[in-house]
Amino acid sequence: MDKLVEQNTSSPITVKKTGVNLSAEISDIDLTQPMDDATFEAVDAALVEHEVIVFRDQEISSENLIDFGRRFGELTVHPFSPNDGDRPYLILFKNDENNPPFGTDCWHSDETFRECPPMATVLCAKDVPEVGGDTMFASMSAAFDGLSDRMQQFISGLEAVHDFKVFKNLFGESEEDRKNLIEYELRYPPQVQPVVRVHPVSGKKVLWVNPQFTIAIKGMDERESRSLLDTLFHQALIPEYQYRHKWRNHTIVMWDNRSVQHYAVHDYYPSRRFMERVTIEGDKPVGVPAADPDSLRKFKFHAKTGSDSHGGHTAPKRQFQRELDAG
Ligand code: SIN
Repeated sequence: MDKLVEQNTSSPITVKKTGVNLSAEISDIDLTQPMDDATFEAVDAALVEHEVIVFRDQEISSENLIDFGRRFGELTVHPFSPNDGDRPYLILFKNDENNPPFGTDCWHSDETFRECPPMATVLCAKDVPEVGGDTMFASMSAAFDGLSDRMQQFISGLEAVHDFKVFKNLFGESEEDRKNLIEYELRYPPQVQPVVRVHPVSGKKVLWVNPQFTIAIKGMDERESRSLLDTLFHQALIPEYQYRHKWRNHTIVMWDNRSVQHYAVHDYYPSRRFMERVTIEGDKPVGVPAADPDSLRKFKFHAKTGSDSHGGHTAPKRQFQRELDAG
């Protein structure tokens, strides 16, 4: 049998591996119909193993997409993506000359600015351009494996700060807009995530930083943090870890958001591209063990008291602290 083709005769579906590090096509399934347990388990296992799974020629309704997603868990509502008002968990990417695509042409895992990012995303092509508008994926488990042993050891246990920074551009400049932005910053405060997460099902180690949402490595100065992040972000750009998906109408792609990043190629504008998407609730990422913070020599600054850890004395207050104290 071809090395890239896998067939399990006892499985209710056919899974054909289409990339060395990630992606498989699934056939012998009809997504307009409810999935029985055996089919669900086979699809779920294929998702974890291949990280990106593709279903071709599935002319499904929005309800079918929602039902398919719900088979894996609760659907989540993205605070900043365009959605269907009555069913806010149904994202509608309806792009054309009057509505250019926004914010998805950057490598990312979905919503890592939340404490519990989605475990998976399902995207359905309703009306795609003749050429262009591909979606690219990178296996971040392969990307982690591809790092040197030294780098793997160095980043294991580190933590990074994630923020919804790209979506701040959706807020305007007026005073009202600024107040609204502050409200959303309070609702979605920056989250600390492990730099290397352990996939909860496969146990694989996954590089868990992305250029869309990761803003800093905790405990490093800005220059160190920036250069380390640049090095780690570069892993997703290496073709060996990538799969580039070319869409046809009625194709559905599901990705394991715990182990892949994706990038929507915005080359098709001003053509029309219409996609529907749902995301499925995930767990709080668990990292590999952290270094003992007391073993670190530097950055023992305590924001609350303004004192450093060396003398223990109280430093003069900063102007914003005085203003806040004065009410
Ligand atoms: C996204 O989910 O980030 C968008 C993917 C796409 O439109 O291809």
